[in-house]
Amino acid sequence: MKHYVVINADMTKGTINRNVYGHFSEHLGRCVYEGLWVGEDSPIPNTSGIRNDVVEALKEIRVPVLRWPGGCFADEYHWKDGIGPRGQRKRMVNTHWGGMVENNHFGTHEFMLLCELLGCEPYISGNVGSGTVQEMSEWVEYLTFDGESPMAELRKANGRAEPWKVKYFGVGNENWGCGGNMRPQYYADQYRQYQTFVRNYGDNKIYKIACGPNIDDYDWMERVMKDTHPFMDAISIHYYTIPGEFWKGKGAATGFSEDEWATTIRKAWFIDELITKHAAIMDRYDPSKRIGMIVDEWGTWFDVEVGTNPGFLYQQNTIRDALVAGISLNIFNEHCDRVVMANIAQMVNVLQSVILTEGEKMILTPTYHVFNMYKVHQDALLVDTHALPVGIQNEDRPHPSLSVSTSKDAQGLLHISLCNADLLSENEVTLDLRGLAAPGVLVTGTVMNSEIRDAHNTFEAPGVVMPSEFKAFAVEGTIIRVTLPRMSVTVLEVAPA
Ligand code: AHR
Repeated sequence: MKHYVVINADMTKGTINRNVYGHFSEHLGRCVYEGLWVGEDSPIPNTSGIRNDVVEALKEIRVPVLRWPGGCFADEYHWKDGIGPRGQRKRMVNTHWGGMVENNHFGTHEFMLLCELLGCEPYISGNVGSGTVQEMSEWVEYLTFDGESPMAELRKANGRAEPWKVKYFGVGNENWGCGGNMRPQYYADQYRQYQTFVRNYGDNKIYKIACGPNIDDYDWMERVMKDTHPFMDAISIHYYTIPGEFWKGKGAATGFSEDEWATTIRKAWFIDELITKHAAIMDRYDPSKRIGMIVDEWGTWFDVEVGTNPGFLYQQNTIRDALVAGISLNIFNEHCDRVVMANIAQMVNVLQSVILTEGEKMILTPTYHVFNMYKVHQDALLVDTHALPVGIQNEDRPHPSLSVSTSKDAQGLLHISLCNADLLSENEVTLDLRGLAAPGVLVTGTVMNSEIRDAHNTFEAPGVVMPSEFKAFAVEGTIIRVTLPRMSVTVLEVAPA
């Protein structure tokens, strides 16, 4: 397949919010417990209970924001159960995820410490489904009130004198489903009430996030936007890439067929249509684009690995996941006028994780490497880019085989991320850089690819799918001709020279 890509380097279309490269960690399976939190007495090296190896790996990819404690768990989480001496914390049943006993050892203080260690912003999901207005209001007071108040005193008694800074606060999660099975008009009223008591204390200004629709529920978006838009800063959407059917068999994470590859890639592209259509509804109520769209759950969802707890959502991660990540992140970049945050589900050991752990061992997944390669887009300017297939599209490949996005950083360097999701063929791509104030360019690049469609890293062989230097390009003035290997993600750095 051949492609011609025009990049108007002098035309920028807004800033790619660093939070598009955000993450999500839920009390689900081995994400929080084992993946992030091992406890102070663990032989696994840790800082106040948080494992050091995972933190170091996550710092490398510059995690900008972390959503917690759920997911579905958020709407059955009562934050006061997770503060105070750990030995005295209430135990509860995690009814959504495996019916496990939750000992609440990882609570507000532990999460805020994790964010401090990662150098990221916290994004807290409040409980609308089974919590009260008072409970939500008091959580914000506990976190952010500086002065004398019942919750500030409680926080001080628990060892934290200074309030934290918390910007991102979600008012409920999936309230159309696990968060209360509400109808949109009912949730809209609930949202209006709950958010009233999510207060700004001192100079801490909360950015309020309403629960948006499931996938293509445009009716939910319409009704919630209509009734609540003056009261929100952002609204979420959720979309998972599932090759099969949710309740009948989602498909395996490894050992899948060529058809399943194609279906997965096609479904990953669908998020472009979803964002476009939901944004069109938002435009009607918010033409100035004050309100952000937050894709606060996205990624692949496959059948769990054989022999693992079905409620733990543990799945392997292959070069196919890397392509889904690369395509999705390119799409989010291209919608930077509306998409202000995205949170891949989930950070460790659950769904499309960037890290998998087994006891003291840790591996980085192909998805991790995509986040590392793409971090150059964080806070950069989106550059006008047009990909044009050359020749006739093959009917067997109904989705574009090339995904591309370009940004310009503060130093004037261009970064071009390119995905070739074709199982069989290379992509020959001509990049025509226009509007540069220089006659030529210096190019370097990184590529991650595989000859095997389900190639993945294991605890025994952690380096099977890894980025390496990309050399398959030739430069003529401001034209770059690249040959993208099949099943590959590539990022080029282009310096005008
Ligand atoms: O990420 C797993 C689950 O998917 C979340 O808890 C829920 O919000 C969604 O349905």
